[in-house]
Amino acid sequence: MSEPSESTGATAASAVSTAPASASARGPLGETLLEMRDLQKHFPLTQGVLFKRTIGHVRAVDGVNMTLRRGETVGLVGESGCGKSTVSKLLVALEKPTGGSILYKGKDLAGMSGRALKEYRREVQIIFQDPYSSLNPRMTVGDIVAEGWSVHADIAPRKNRLERTQELLDRVGLNPDYVNRYPHQFSGGQRQRIGIARALALRPEVIVCDEPVSALDVSVQAQVVNLLEDLQDEFGLSYLFIAHDLSVVRHISDRVSVMYLGSIVEEGTDEQVYTTPSHPYTQALLSSVPLHEPHLRGQKDRILLQGDVPSPADPPSGCRFRTRCWKAQDICATEAPALVDRGQGHPAACHFAEARTVVPVDVD
Ligand SMILES: Nc1ncnc2c1ncn2[C@@H]1O[C@H](COP(=O)(O)OP(=O)(O)O)[C@@H](O)[C@H]1O
Ligand code: SF4
Ligand SMILES: [Mg+2]
Repeated sequence: MSEPSESTGATAASAVSTAPASASARGPLGETLLEMRDLQKHFPLTQGVLFKRTIGHVRAVDGVNMTLRRGETVGLVGESGCGKSTVSKLLVALEKPTGGSILYKGKDLAGMSGRALKEYRREVQIIFQDPYSSLNPRMTVGDIVAEGWSVHADIAPRKNRLERTQELLDRVGLNPDYVNRYPHQFSGGQRQRIGIARALALRPEVIVCDEPVSALDVSVQAQVVNLLEDLQDEFGLSYLFIAHDLSVVRHISDRVSVMYLGSIVEEGTDEQVYTTPSHPYTQALLSSVPLHEPHLRGQKDRILLQGDVPSPADPPSGCRFRTRCWKAQDICATEAPALVDRGQGHPAACHFAEARTVVPVDVD
């Protein structure tokens, strides 16, 4: 089956009235939008069929502190299973925290109901990892993009909806004439564009991008990342951009948080985290990032991590990384290291944090 071609999107930018308000119409850049304070999500582990007993808890998210400011992109990186998707579900109110809080524009999400919660759900949108399963196969692309307007009718007057849907498709680089096609008629990258149009349709402030390019071919990944960057500039959007690979977030992030087994182990500007990584886990993750500059290859420090990620139902005492850490000492088993700056210029949760150049810096 032939795939629909992508349009240039050239005609669209000025016409998209359903897209978010322009960057200048929003609040000041740098204003704090989202704040996670000691955020926790523990899922009960149950046993038995008729009489379920709780025999423990999966500590999927276990004390995450992060801030997202207006107009910026924060990258959240960590191996599969470390709790990234649970953070994103908490942020879009698909899950409720078991501890800690999420503040949006200074207000606690847990205290929102009715109109305030409805507005929050509109303003904080999500794009999922898997464009194949996140789109309803029985709905046309037009209906998928317009679906949110049935709840948020004030965003798009009924009589203009088809035109507005087509403008959105055009803006994300899809041919507006394909509004009546079904998701299976599109490629993976095009499906992800449909997901982006669906999020944009609600004029969001924040988009949580949960591994939006992980399921795509490398050649398509950059196109989708570039589209997200263009939309951010145009509409003043803020992104939490999740990935399991540091190389993906480097290009797009202003700041990066590295997550391991439910909590943040290092955070800083992309420059700080890439040039002076200070937590052993960040150093190991960076050492596995592919280098695109041929003359730098071979100069990279290779760090091979030993062992598997421990179960979040039974995390190690003290520092959670200690079972895989080559620098571990006695104190690491008894005292959890705080996420603070120990002289590296940015916070790392390691008793023995020490900046180390893992990826050579290109001075050309
Ligand atoms: N609904 C759930 N019930 C029980 N455990 C869950 C649930 N959702 C996620 N988990 C567990 O929480 C941990 C973190 O999962 P997830 O947030 O999907 O990680 P990531 O997105 O980083 O791969 C995993 O061990 C996962 O099995
Ligand atoms: S606190 Fe100890 S175990 Fe944890 S990362 Fe630092 S050196 Fe390794
Ligand atoms: Mg995930």
